[in-house]
Amino acid sequence: MRANYILHISSTLCGVFFSWLTKCWLVWNCRICLRVEGTVALEWALAEIIHNPEIMNRAQEELDKVVGTNRQVHESDLPNLPYLHTIIKETFCLHPPGALTLGHLNVKDVQLLHYKIPANTNVLVNIWAINRDPKAWKKPLESIPDRFLNNNISLLGSNYNLLPFGSGRRRCPGMDFAQHMVHCGLATLIQTFDWSPQLGVKGHEYDGGLHRRICCKS
Ligand code: HEM
Repeated sequence: MRANYILHISSTLCGVFFSWLTKCWLVWNCRICLRVEGTVALEWALAEIIHNPEIMNRAQEELDKVVGTNRQVHESDLPNLPYLHTIIKETFCLHPPGALTLGHLNVKDVQLLHYKIPANTNVLVNIWAINRDPKAWKKPLESIPDRFLNNNISLLGSNYNLLPFGSGRRRCPGMDFAQHMVHCGLATLIQTFDWSPQLGVKGHEYDGGLHRRICCKS
């Protein structure tokens, strides 16, 4: 009886410990994903804006019109900033932070065009290549946020030529959180600062490397 009781307590304690461990792991995973993937997306968005000052001017004009110049942009403003959304979509399209999806196993044999993929193959989808496919996008290597204006192309995984967060049941569960943070971050950075390449470097000469090569003026 006593042994059962002790066993019960120890298994409960183990359960509590492992559930705590799982929660810690999840929170840690969220932090890592956001810090790594989110920061990469934000850096690329800034790099493209520095490379194309007219995109920054349009985004700043939109922010001035919607938010004004007397207060900081707030998350409740985001739905009213369509041009900012197009910049984010273009960034995720041109520079998806995760170039490949995680491994997916197909449960049965599949024939995909002229490829035969046997069951239980570990399939990694090349998101990066799909997002830059010239059959899917006009001028795929140029940053053109306008391609996302006035259409319903979304980042949710329903448009198979734009899959920065994967698609289907295994798509990224942190997608909404990540998008929200990147939107807020970029809006704040563009509203607060004018961004330019290092003195003497023209926008179109800027090669995308952010390290020690940008200036911001408040
Ligand atoms: C810009 C930020 C992010 C990008 C671009 C991104 C992208 C991705 C991609 C491409 C996948 C693989 C999907 C697939 O295999 O079909 C994935 C999986 C995953 N992501 Fe993210 N992610 C981001 C941020 C986050 C954040 C903030 C979290 C946590 C809060 C997160 C949690 C996860 C998890 C747990 C998986 C694995 C899902 C599974 O195995 O079913 N991600 N992410």
